[in-house]
Amino acid sequence: MSSTPEVQLEVVGNPIKHSWSPQIHQDFASQFARNISYEKTEVALDAFAQHAETFFNLGGLGMNVEVPFKEDAYRFASVLSPGAKLAGAVNTLHQIDGQVYGYNTDGVGLVNDLTHRFGCALAGRRVLVLGAGGSAKGLLTPLVQAQVAEIVWANRTPEKAHELAATTRAAGVASRGVGLPVTRAVVGDEINLIINTTSVGLQGAAELNKLCAPTLIAGRICYDLSYGANARFQQWTAQHGAAQSLDGLGMLVEQAAQSFFHWFGERPVTEPIYQRLRTTHFPT
Ligand code: ATR
Repeated sequence: MSSTPEVQLEVVGNPIKHSWSPQIHQDFASQFARNISYEKTEVALDAFAQHAETFFNLGGLGMNVEVPFKEDAYRFASVLSPGAKLAGAVNTLHQIDGQVYGYNTDGVGLVNDLTHRFGCALAGRRVLVLGAGGSAKGLLTPLVQAQVAEIVWANRTPEKAHELAATTRAAGVASRGVGLPVTRAVVGDEINLIINTTSVGLQGAAELNKLCAPTLIAGRICYDLSYGANARFQQWTAQHGAAQSLDGLGMLVEQAAQSFFHWFGERPVTEPIYQRLRTTHFPT
């Protein structure tokens, strides 16, 4: 029997059927004998604010927010963490005393996955981030806090990459923005880690070549924010000799752990649920 009163949590998105968040959070809650109700709710595209208002008015404690509502959640939050403010996107809402706090735990999830699960310390590394949309922005603060030496932002629309580079420099880390495709001639040999935040992989191998020259991949650690069938960048980098080709499953679990920490002040052990999902649904 759980020893705490039931708290209401949910994840919203559109679509949301595919979400693993309920299983992950039930696993975390059981570690602390917490009694949670964690639902998946598909919300109409124009109805996020109305839905969130009702959820929190009825006493909901916390909400995870998936695509395409992270910017709506950013606007909905009454108080924003510095990382969420910079990202312009919120994936975790937490109600305390009638105020709704907004966080972005995606970037912390990525950093924790790389450093704790894969032993890839980020301090002093030179990082190439492919994409400059909402997912990329969420990485900025956690990468800066992890003390990387440089971030190169690469994007189809270079202006967005230049903007992120300026923000990164203002935060005290060397940075520049470049267009696509990224080649050795553009970024040199100094890059250690390549992170794909775009959905280009879904559009086929030819599109991946337009993103990044295959010759840039050999010997580097490559991380795809996607997982499962969508992780084509991961598969492609493995074929082109990456030192390590990682998918975003660990980031999924770690961002959830960070959300759980915001809600309950408790840090769950993440390895068992990660291994269970890896073995049963996402074998590599
Ligand atoms: P998300 O929140 O998942 O980051 P987003 O904010 O819409 O979604 O950003 C999508 C990213 O993928 C952007 O960097 C986008 O590039 P643009 O800013 O130039 O649009 C990138 N992207 C999507 N399709 C692409 C393609 N076919 N080729 C190159 N980049 C692509």
